[in-house]
Amino acid sequence: MNFIIVFISLLSLVSAIHYEPNWKSIDSRPLPKWYDEAKVGIFIHFGVFSVPSYVDEWFWDWWLLRPNQQIINFMKKHYSPSFTYPEFGPQFTAEWFNANQWAKLFERSGAKYVVLTTKHHEGFTLWPSKFSFTWNSVDIGPKRDIVGELEHAVRAHGLRFGTYHSLMEWFHPLYLKEKGSKWKTDLFVRTKIRPEMEELVNTYKPDIVWSDGDAEAPDTYWNSTDFLAWLYNESPVKDHVVVNDRWGIGTHGKHGGFHNSADRYNPGVIQKHKWESAITIDRHSWGFRREATLTDYLTIDQLLFQLVSAVSCGGNILINVGPRKDGTISPIFQERLTQLGDWLALNGEGIYSSKPWTTCQNDTSTKDIWYTSKPEMNSVYGFVLNWPTTDSIHFGCLKIEQIQSVQLFGSNEIINFNANGNGIDVHMPRWTPDQPIKHCPTFKFIVK
Ligand SMILES: *[C@@H]1O[C@H](CO)[C@@H](O)[C@H](O)[C@H]1NC(C)=O
Ligand SMILES: *[C@@H]1O[C@H](CO)[C@@H](O)[C@H](O)[C@H]1NC(C)=O
Repeated sequence: MNFIIVFISLLSLVSAIHYEPNWKSIDSRPLPKWYDEAKVGIFIHFGVFSVPSYVDEWFWDWWLLRPNQQIINFMKKHYSPSFTYPEFGPQFTAEWFNANQWAKLFERSGAKYVVLTTKHHEGFTLWPSKFSFTWNSVDIGPKRDIVGELEHAVRAHGLRFGTYHSLMEWFHPLYLKEKGSKWKTDLFVRTKIRPEMEELVNTYKPDIVWSDGDAEAPDTYWNSTDFLAWLYNESPVKDHVVVNDRWGIGTHGKHGGFHNSADRYNPGVIQKHKWESAITIDRHSWGFRREATLTDYLTIDQLLFQLVSAVSCGGNILINVGPRKDGTISPIFQERLTQLGDWLALNGEGIYSSKPWTTCQNDTSTKDIWYTSKPEMNSVYGFVLNWPTTDSIHFGCLKIEQIQSVQLFGSNEIINFNANGNGIDVHMPRWTPDQPIKHCPTFKFIVK
C-alpha cells in the first residue's frame, strides 16, 4: 500500500516538472518535439504600419525618434503638418482580410506553423486587449479580432499558430518614463505587458510565443523568467508551447527556447542548440512596402537556399510576408509561397522531421549542395541548388562504398553513379519539360 503511494507520487513528480523563475531552470525544459519536426513557418507583419507601407514597419520610429529624411519628406508631401501616427489607425481597414484565404495559402506553401505580429513596437494590438484601450483592431480600423480569426482559420487548416509580441512600445508614456529612469521601476511591465501577455496566451492558446522588442532593457526589468515559469508551469499551453530567445539584454542566442539570434540569422554551420532563421521575402522590409520592386523580392532559388541551408544546420525557417493594409496578400508573395509549396510537395521528405547529417552539411567542392538525413531510414538527402549545367553532379561528402541506391525526387529513372576522387558523380536523368522538378533537384541516398 505505502509502496504504491510512494510510487504514484514519484510518477507525478516526474510528469509535473516545476520550473523556477531563473534561466537555469527555464533553459532546462526540453523543446517540444513538434517544433523541430515542422521546419517551415510563415511570419506575418501586419499592423498600422501597413497603412503608410513605406520604407518598413519601423515607420513611426524613423519619423519621430531618429528622424529619417526619406520619411520626413514623405509625410510633408502627403499629410498635413498636424497629422499624427495614430491617425493611421482608422485607415487600417483590412476590409478584404479573409483569414481562411490566408490559411489556405499558408497550408499550400507547405509551412507547418504561422506566426502573426499580434502587437508590434507601435503598441497596436490585433486583438481586443483590455490593456490597449482604443489602440486595438476592434475599437478602430478593421473593427475585427484579427488574431482570433487567424488563429481559428490556421488551426482549421491543420497548422500551428504562434503569436509574435513586442515587449517594448516606442511611445508608451510609462515605458518612456522607465527607460528615462534606467529601469528602476517596472509599472509598465506589471500593469501593461504582463497582464496583456497572459490575456494573449489564455485567449488564443498559442503554440509559439515569439518575443521581440526586448533589447533596450534587461530581462529582470521584463520579469521574463517569471513569465516563462508561469507559461511552462500553469498556462493552458504549458505542455506544447515553444518560445524564442528575445527576453532582454544578453538573452539572444543564449536563453529561452529556440534561438533566433539576430534577424536573418543563418550561420552556415551546424549549431548545438535548436535555432530558427527569420527571413523576409522582400529583402528590405518585414511590413508591406509599396515602393518595393521585383528585384527586391527573393527568387524561389534564393528562398530555397535559405531553407535548405538552415535545415541542414539544424535550423527552422520562418518566412515573412507583409500583407497590404486592406488585408490582401500581393500576388508576388502568393507566387513565391506557391512555388515553395510545389517544391516541398516533391522534396519535403528530406526536410520535415529530418536531422542534420553530422558527417557534412554542405559541399565545399561545389558550394551548391546541402545535406540532411533520416538515420532511422538510412537515408541522406542532397539538395542541389541551381540547376546543374553538366550531366553529372559531384557529391564530395559521399563515399561510393556507403551507397546502396540513389533516387531523384520527381523522376522515375534509374540514377547511375560512380566513384570520383573521394566522392561520387551522380548522373542526371534527361530533363523533359513535363517533369515536376523545376528548382533545386533533391537526391535521396540509401546508405549502409
Ligand atoms: C514578477 O512577476 C511576479 C508575478 O506577477 C511578481 O510577483 C514579481 O514581483 C515580479 N518581479 C519583478 C522584479 O517585477
Ligand atoms: C558550408 O558553407 C559555409 C558558407 O558558405 C562555409 O562557411 C562552410 O565552410 C561550408 N562547410 C562545409 C563543411 O563545406
